[in-house]
Amino acid sequence: MNKERVLSGVRSTGNLHLGNYFGAVRNFVKMQDDYDCYFFIANLHALTTHPNPQQLVISTKAVFSEYLACGLDPEKSVLYLQSDVPEISELYTLLNMLAYKGELEKCTSFKEKIKKHNENINAGLLTYPVLMAADILIHKAHKVPVGKDQEQHLEMTRNFAVRFNHKYNVDFFPEPQAFNFSEKLIKVPGLDGSGKMGKSEAEGNAIFLREAEASIRKKVMKAKTDAGPTEPNQTKPIEIENLFALMQLVSTPETIQYYDESYNNCSIRYGDLKKQLAEDIIQFIQPIKERISEFENHPGLLKEIADFGAEKARKSANKTINELKEIMGLNNVWK
Ligand code: TRP
Repeated sequence: MNKERVLSGVRSTGNLHLGNYFGAVRNFVKMQDDYDCYFFIANLHALTTHPNPQQLVISTKAVFSEYLACGLDPEKSVLYLQSDVPEISELYTLLNMLAYKGELEKCTSFKEKIKKHNENINAGLLTYPVLMAADILIHKAHKVPVGKDQEQHLEMTRNFAVRFNHKYNVDFFPEPQAFNFSEKLIKVPGLDGSGKMGKSEAEGNAIFLREAEASIRKKVMKAKTDAGPTEPNQTKPIEIENLFALMQLVSTPETIQYYDESYNNCSIRYGDLKKQLAEDIIQFIQPIKERISEFENHPGLLKEIADFGAEKARKSANKTINELKEIMGLNNVWK
């Protein structure tokens, strides 16, 4: 039976945090058994911000190790670096011919980026969605697990796919759909009392998978709280709700119940709750952290895994490119 194809990528800037883990990577790990999965590190996308080359190498390897440490398995999925599959860049060139300046300029992420990075508005930033479409369409993926912030890019991918099919009168690219693996979307709040955990939010908002124990304790202890409940069974304010939401992810049901009851009878001490939460987070990420170091202590193994994945990815990518060139009048020119 043919399995449906799932594909997703992460940018290689920054390390994975608990938000990435619970919001995405943990689901990727589960999908591996039911889908034909492609997961990659988007190190070409990272170039839009002109990272220092040595730094880019380091962070690419770091995120790749983290992916593997979380349970992505090269025997089950195709795991690769975007830069190891040149066919993606080739498809990017071809798709750029179908992407209109106007629609790219209207893209929300582009508008936000030009506001933030006024000094570096390059064409790569403008065509970021085209490169992302190339990532997806190169393997004719059906399902793309992405966060809300990427849904517009996915919609653009569908537009490019449909436009291509229509222009060349073929039924070549499937229309990739956003994919929420579990019914209930898991919310992973940050520690600053505002919204979700993210690396670009305020310092201290996110806890990284490779974060040192002392630093985890420090960040959790600093998390925003209020003055405490004054009457029984009060509704929790958002920053307290957030701490409980984090506990839901890493603590035992007994622990959660204990603090919930102590909140409800107003005996809670936030300091104790935070200490417990910090220890539970530490315990939760301990095995992942150990596997990260194992991979990083064996760079030869990492390279072997990446090469193995790249070979499989290129095989699939090559097939798409050849068929595409045939359709577009780029193959068999001298026949
Ligand atoms: N743009 C995505 C992000 O910033 C990363 C990404 C690149 C991606 N190419 C992709 C995600 C293809 C899904 C499919 O998170």
